[in-house]
Amino acid sequence: MKANLSDSTTIHFVLNGTERHAEVTGDTTALRLLRDTLNLKGTKEGCGIGECGACTIIVDGLAVNSCLLPAAQLDEREVQTIDGLGQKEQLHPIQEAFVENHAVQCGYCTPGLIMSTKALLDENAAPDDDAIKAAISGNLCRCTGYHHIFASVKAACGNKEEN
Ligand code: FES
Ligand code: FES
Repeated sequence: MKANLSDSTTIHFVLNGTERHAEVTGDTTALRLLRDTLNLKGTKEGCGIGECGACTIIVDGLAVNSCLLPAAQLDEREVQTIDGLGQKEQLHPIQEAFVENHAVQCGYCTPGLIMSTKALLDENAAPDDDAIKAAISGNLCRCTGYHHIFASVKAACGNKEEN
């Protein structure tokens, strides 16, 4: 029998270190699951079509656009979102670097940029400039002009920007 997009299935996954399960339909995106079902609002929706990176999460170590990812594909995966990264009183070092380097203006792009940065640094603790640019190339920012963001990523991996 053919599966319907409205058919629901139960997925099991690890979210920010905790085992979770959820009922999802074939047309539920990971973004909708996180924001609407699980009430995790840290992951932002910008374009909704895979262009802006505001919705970036990490799945099995890879930064992905959650607005394009069917939630069903989270089954048996390890998922990290901005909500699991730091606390208001104790920011994650990447978050601290973004604050200290003035990379946050309206802040809408920030969760996605931080998750892209985390995926990069988890894989490569000392990325060169090209690797940094490649890692954040899918994250659009309308406010900052990217200089402060780039400096933040450099600071997060222990390098000061030279110019
Ligand atoms: S909201 Fe997912 S890429 Fe823009
Ligand atoms: S700080 Fe506003 S979009 Fe990046």
